[in-house]
Amino acid sequence: MRRHTFTFSILLVVSSILLLFSCQARGHRLAPSATHLRRRISGERELGGSKRYEGSSELVHMRYHMGPVLSAPIRIYLIWYGRWRPAQQSTIRDFLHSISDASSTSPSVHEWWSTAALYRDQTGANVTRSVSIAGETSDPLCSRGSSLTRLDIQRVIADAVAGRRGDDGGVYLVLTAAEVAMQDFCRAVCGFHYFTFPSITGRTLPYAWVGNSGDQCPSMCAYPFVVPEYMVGTAAMAPPNEDAGVDGMVSVIGHELAELSTDPLVNSWYAGEDPTAPTEIADLCEGIYGTGGGGGYAGQVMTDGAGRKFNVNGRAGRRFLVQWLWSPILNACAGPNAID
Ligand SMILES: *[C@@H]1O[C@H](CO)[C@@H](O)[C@H](O)[C@H]1NC(C)=O
Repeated sequence: MRRHTFTFSILLVVSSILLLFSCQARGHRLAPSATHLRRRISGERELGGSKRYEGSSELVHMRYHMGPVLSAPIRIYLIWYGRWRPAQQSTIRDFLHSISDASSTSPSVHEWWSTAALYRDQTGANVTRSVSIAGETSDPLCSRGSSLTRLDIQRVIADAVAGRRGDDGGVYLVLTAAEVAMQDFCRAVCGFHYFTFPSITGRTLPYAWVGNSGDQCPSMCAYPFVVPEYMVGTAAMAPPNEDAGVDGMVSVIGHELAELSTDPLVNSWYAGEDPTAPTEIADLCEGIYGTGGGGGYAGQVMTDGAGRKFNVNGRAGRRFLVQWLWSPILNACAGPNAID
């Protein structure tokens, strides 16, 4: 499917690696993804026409490290940090509600999540297919300041936990608005997931942070709706919900939720030998949204009547563009909009 010339391929490789070093990696650091990308692209050239699946490689060993997956229904507590417009909030809420909505038109967000649900832990339990929003808090005045560190995110969560005593479970999703600066945001990360420490929040809970890059670094974290200048010849895609920052967040939220579910305590599913720099199930498929994707090409996606791009349907007629996930069955990236 890829017919670019050798020179163009080299350009793509170089620009993709630059992209990774700029901000694409959403995990704990950049190196594993960049290394993987280099391997994947060189492997692909060596294997020539034998490559069948996006991102597939015998060099990727996604391994289970004996920890739990999130097999109980996931109850998300949303924290809106900074100023959010209602339209932005409803796009993100609709995406989260779509994960469990089996009635959405295929290819759907619900089907996209089925790749995450293929992962199971040593008790024989799979990742749940039930994801809901259990509660929301807002902090429009940025009570912890407008420039946060990674540990501040746990303090923001501690503030929310203190406000709802008696409810032990749940997963926290901290979303920072376009005006909020965050440690490593735009330089190294677009989002991350981890777990809270009892010394700060009183307990250990999985959480993720994702920032709205719309005003700060959309070409890094809202790609492919905004394309960096060095990717000469790559056209930006029109975002499905007409908000590049928020549509970009949707894919990062999907990325972090998939990893948080399969590796909530960072001791379950990841590739690589270094637990401080795990390559998790979404890291392997960054930038891949459809068949043929990889090496700077998003892959085949769909276009609506107004020219907006999407690859999955959600509830209430919503559409989203969400990156694919690593399938332990195919040993490749997989998504419901694959064209056989
Ligand atoms: C649960 O995980 C196993 C092992 O990966 C997989 O074969 C099975 O299809 C999964 N079940 C569901 C319902 O996804």
